[in-house]
Amino acid sequence: MKVLSVVGARPQFVKLAPVAIALNARGIEHCIVHTGQHYEPALSDIFFEELGIPRPDVHLAVGSGGHGEQTGAMLGRLETVILGQRPDWVLIYGDTNSTLAAAVAAVKIHAPLAHLEAGLRSFNRRMPEEHNRVLSDHAADLCLAPTEAAMTQLAREGLAERSVLVGDVMTDVLMRVRDRVAGSPPRIPDGVTAPFRIATIHRAENTDDPARLREIVLAMQSLPEPTVLFVHPRLRARAAEHGVTLAAGSLHVADPVGYPDLIGTALHSIGIVTDSGGLQKEAFLLRVPCTTIRTETEWTETVDLGWNILVPDPAQGRLLAAVSRSAPPATDDTPYGSGDAAERTVDALLRRVTPPVWPI
Ligand code: UD1
Repeated sequence: MKVLSVVGARPQFVKLAPVAIALNARGIEHCIVHTGQHYEPALSDIFFEELGIPRPDVHLAVGSGGHGEQTGAMLGRLETVILGQRPDWVLIYGDTNSTLAAAVAAVKIHAPLAHLEAGLRSFNRRMPEEHNRVLSDHAADLCLAPTEAAMTQLAREGLAERSVLVGDVMTDVLMRVRDRVAGSPPRIPDGVTAPFRIATIHRAENTDDPARLREIVLAMQSLPEPTVLFVHPRLRARAAEHGVTLAAGSLHVADPVGYPDLIGTALHSIGIVTDSGGLQKEAFLLRVPCTTIRTETEWTETVDLGWNILVPDPAQGRLLAAVSRSAPPATDDTPYGSGDAAERTVDALLRRVTPPVWPI
């Protein structure tokens, strides 16, 4: 069997890491294609180095652009790569423009397509990730779901027969890295002392509207304890464009860090404020209370179990009220699996493989 993975953005490198290890352990041929959606070393290379991911076999160097421009630039090049490689599976990850481009490229040339992290929904049609994941699920021959809730959603959309519950591959990575970084010092700017929170904000819904961005930043700046904000390039660019100063009050800024440093620093923090999907889940797995600045979440289990609170509108003390809440209830629930999702992904790929019929 030959698997062709398509990745391009930061969270996809994290998801790829355990899959690459599991495929390698079974001696399965694996071709890694990097679209180049994320190109800064801090968003890309560092993940390959620190998580031990093999270097990409193909790099498309597509870079940034509008949705259509970026996705379109990937589409044609991916078609050429897939036809050249002729894999048994094209494996796509999550919900970025790289995911959608590979889904469309694969389905058009009848390449068998598997979507990892299938079945997640925000039901918010204004999010680019929501279109990407819905379209990718419906293009896929195999939907690899991280949770029971995702399986239920796939069944609702008529995709039950092609869906398999494998668990969450990000949980596999987290469990490995957590043990490795326990006891390491936090990566925080000089002058910040415990107790502190960490924060990340990067979603278009939060960064692109100047009034909303200003409201979020002001709310973080007025929290009583220091907050260390790891600044994603989108946030850096939009804040500069809209004239929003990030570092003021109790808000301290830092450049993005690699995965082990982020997890190591989260372990020292009293709470996390974010709009990232992955970090909400990591907070839960590390049992650090999380506050999510969004109207909804795809990872509903984190909210149901009391470890995550949604704050759609952080103004007028609402962020402060959320981060000051009392400690969440102890739980030993494992809604995201037990760290063997990559193994189960490979099992599912092997079980469902069928010889591709190439158009030419
Ligand atoms: C993308 C994904 C999002 C994911 C996030 C993780 C889509 C639609 N969105 O969002 O789901 O959660 O990655 O980070 O695919 N930029 C740089 N350097 C880089 C990459 C981007 O400066 O290496 C800047 C550019 O100004 C670019 C902007 O960030 O226009 C947005 O980058 P893009 O990849 O389009 O989306 P993200 O916001 O990173």
